[in-house]
Amino acid sequence: MSNFDPNRFVLEHDQDTPKEILRAAYQAFGELTVSFSGAEDVVLIDLALKVAPKEAVQVFALDTGRLHPETYAFIERVREHYAIEIDVRSPDADAVQAMVREKGLFSFYRDGHQECCGIRKVAPLRKRLTGLPVWVTGQRRDQSPGTRSSLQIAEHDTAFGSEASPLYKINPLTHWSSEDVWTYIRMFDVPYNPLHERGFVSIGCEPCTRPILPHQHEREGRWWWEDQGGKECGLHSTNLGR
Ligand code: ADX
Ligand code: SF4
Repeated sequence: MSNFDPNRFVLEHDQDTPKEILRAAYQAFGELTVSFSGAEDVVLIDLALKVAPKEAVQVFALDTGRLHPETYAFIERVREHYAIEIDVRSPDADAVQAMVREKGLFSFYRDGHQECCGIRKVAPLRKRLTGLPVWVTGQRRDQSPGTRSSLQIAEHDTAFGSEASPLYKINPLTHWSSEDVWTYIRMFDVPYNPLHERGFVSIGCEPCTRPILPHQHEREGRWWWEDQGGKECGLHSTNLGR
């Protein structure tokens, strides 16, 4: 839908609840494609299925090959719980093999996570988003003061869209805090990843995620060996240019 105006959508819906934002996005696009990381963003699936018919809701997850066993089991549980298809995307096998052959399985600890994330997450995401008008993410402002504090509920995604095929990103949880998300999970009995019971807050790949201590920020559990400032893996690289 090329005449979608994200600024206008923000003006009209910024004060709305995540459910109302998703309903408005469904009305605008006639479809919702939800990117699901296998963590607390499960609430997006729960909400999307409340505002749109099942056949209009697509869910995909990027299987980097390095997720926790608990996350794989959780993705399966969500698939069964909601009786939905989850499009689990794998990275390009040749690209992974070439990187691992040359640099080993843990190169990200030595030279940063960008290359590995580029192959295991960003390239498969680009492929999945090609030709799509809209995708829905679970990003929130409170997740990362360094990169997400000016996140908007609707954005023009210039990183993955093109002039010929514009892409918009809907972030219904922008104004929700982690506490809001967990209130929703408890209130509506939404299934959750058992890693959350073991101190994991923000969950990504197994080698790059660790539990946090009391009063640490959730982002400190991700890529902890790198600078704390601009931690994004490339899925949401437009956050870095704000
Ligand atoms: S990341 O960029 O640092 O990895 P984060 O874990 O905060 O992202 O998740 C933010 C949102 O990005 C998620 O709610 C989800 O919409 C999307 N996302 C992150 N990881 C994945 C994944 N493996 N598969 C699908 N979507 C993902
Ligand atoms: Fe690779 Fe870590 Fe990025 Fe996962 S989070 S794709 S293991 S660098």
